[in-house]
Amino acid sequence: MLCKKFHRYSFQLLSFVRYQTNISKDNQNSKPSIEKKIYDQHLSNITVTSFYCQTAIEQFALKQSTRLSPLTMMYIGKTDDGRHLLRSAQYLHNDLPIRFAHRINDFRNLPFVVACNPLLLELHERFIKIFHTLHSFPPIKTLEHEKLFTELLQNTLNCTSDTLPLLAEGFRKSKQHIKQEMFVRNFLDRALASRLAIKMLIENHIELRKDKPNHIGIICMSFSPKKLIEASAEYAQAVCRATYGIAPDITIDGHVNSSFPYITMPLSYIVPEMLKNAFRATVEHHKNSDKKLPNVGVTISVNEDELLLRVRDRGGGMPGSLLDKIYDYHFSSSNLSNESPSLSYTDFDNYLYDQLTTRNIQHRMSGYGFGVPTSRAYCEYLNGSLTFETMYGIGTDVYIRLGLLTSENRIVPIDQNLLSKRLLK
Ligand SMILES: Nc1ncnc2c1ncn2[C@@H]1O[C@H](COP(=O)(O)OP(=O)(O)O)[C@@H](O)[C@H]1O
Ligand SMILES: [Mg+2]
Repeated sequence: MLCKKFHRYSFQLLSFVRYQTNISKDNQNSKPSIEKKIYDQHLSNITVTSFYCQTAIEQFALKQSTRLSPLTMMYIGKTDDGRHLLRSAQYLHNDLPIRFAHRINDFRNLPFVVACNPLLLELHERFIKIFHTLHSFPPIKTLEHEKLFTELLQNTLNCTSDTLPLLAEGFRKSKQHIKQEMFVRNFLDRALASRLAIKMLIENHIELRKDKPNHIGIICMSFSPKKLIEASAEYAQAVCRATYGIAPDITIDGHVNSSFPYITMPLSYIVPEMLKNAFRATVEHHKNSDKKLPNVGVTISVNEDELLLRVRDRGGGMPGSLLDKIYDYHFSSSNLSNESPSLSYTDFDNYLYDQLTTRNIQHRMSGYGFGVPTSRAYCEYLNGSLTFETMYGIGTDVYIRLGLLTSENRIVPIDQNLLSKRLLK
């Protein structure tokens, strides 16, 4: 019986892989805009009835996803017989359909005219397909099943890798139809935080299968903030040079020798984004000066509970009127925002610490207006905060505050409840 189910499932998996392969092939020939791609390839395939009458999705959307704190992940540990992989796959098999059902529900609650945007429709449809593929996967009882499930997880990850640019562009296009800015912000905060959680959970499972020294899944047992800052600065400087022909140096001080268990992924987005902003402000503020650009400084502070990074620049700061707007999605004072949006979307998400070496200097310095709001959503989701202190005419200090995984006072669960705290205020 189970065999039959798996036979049927393998067929489904193949179709899913084919669907996904079409998407990646399409990504490689990234000449046409995202909209054209969707009009050409996908929209004609959408059957509108598939967006409704989805009883399973409705039922799953009512369930709560299970909290899994990184501390639990760390203590799950590894067993020689692979039982830890089985347990982790079973957890994801239960939990991921719930998380995708919540996302689908959010799409359904969008105003009609916004939800009809082709890019948002594409995402909505993709999530429905993913939900059904995960949901119809038979119970995971052996390591063979777990292997097949991991393939599906990898495909899910690939298939959702451009979620952020699609969301950004979809909302940018439908902004004129949205009356309340808070509505967009809440939707995107939830969507981005949930996406981060799904990505972390899936990657954690995939990493658990590897024998990476000093790591348990995605948790690096001796994470060094200094190394992450150095790698991020190298990346941000490369992008800055490609844009302006020049880039400031950086100075790192404070607890430079600290190392502790941590998950690199969210910080490997936040730190480069904050550095790019500091570099851009510095270069633009000093563009008429012959003197060497002032350094951008990063101070590391760690205690038993938290990690605090302060990024300070002498890039002229911001007037109060600007400070109120920087947390809005799509707000950017950069004139680069007028460039073709299809130029490169990879910079605000698909780049990870490991990929820094590829130095894709196609990445954009600024213009999307996503760096600050996304970083804040990530920080708050991880039970931390992102705040700005700025003095107009002088410079800006950005404080990135995050709870440590080992802190008893600040347990960081990978779910959405924490984020909703701010949203409910
Ligand atoms: N360190 C900084 N100094 C001056 N302005 C800043 C700084 N960081 C952010 N900003 C302002 O916040 C805006 C939004 O930043 P962000 O969300 O990263 O979008 P983008 O970089 O694409 O413009 C920037 O356009 C800029 O006006
Ligand atoms: Mg930016």
